[in-house]
Amino acid sequence: MPMGQTLFDKYGGVPAVTAIVRDFYKRVMKRPNLRRYFIDVKMEDLILHQIAFVSMAMGKASANYAGRSMSDAHAGLRITAASFDLAVDLLKDALVAAEVEPEDVDTIVQTVNKLKGQIVGQ
Ligand code: HEM
Repeated sequence: MPMGQTLFDKYGGVPAVTAIVRDFYKRVMKRPNLRRYFIDVKMEDLILHQIAFVSMAMGKASANYAGRSMSDAHAGLRITAASFDLAVDLLKDALVAAEVEPEDVDTIVQTVNKLKGQIVGQ
């Protein structure tokens, strides 16, 4: 991968990532265990959430995201480790379905897992 290029760029930027976000969103909403966290969240914010999740995972959002810290953003939500792991599994499924190379899927999963401590149990 050329220097400075993120996985976000490698896989075609916004259009490709939008498709992954849509697929990931559908997978998340099929799971009552994950859907329950978003019951009071507006549809628009929810979509923004999935975009943030996927973009950050693909190396994009840390440069673009200027919102609350991950622990502040998830404060009071009491997201369990099992829920977090399920969300990551579904992200993985969406990436595989989008034909992201296995090596890159692993990198993305590792990136997301680094945030686990800031998101779980807040
Ligand atoms: C690495 C994984 C994740 C990332 C990068 C991420 C990112 C974000 C961001 C950027 C926000 C918005 C912060 C703001 O308001 O400024 C947010 C809020 C939120 N996140 Fe996550 N999130 C992750 C994992 C999860 C998981 C696993 C769940 C639940 C299963 C979850 C549920 C929520 C909810 C319910 C909100 C509040 C939305 C609202 O009230 O507007 N997040 N997250």
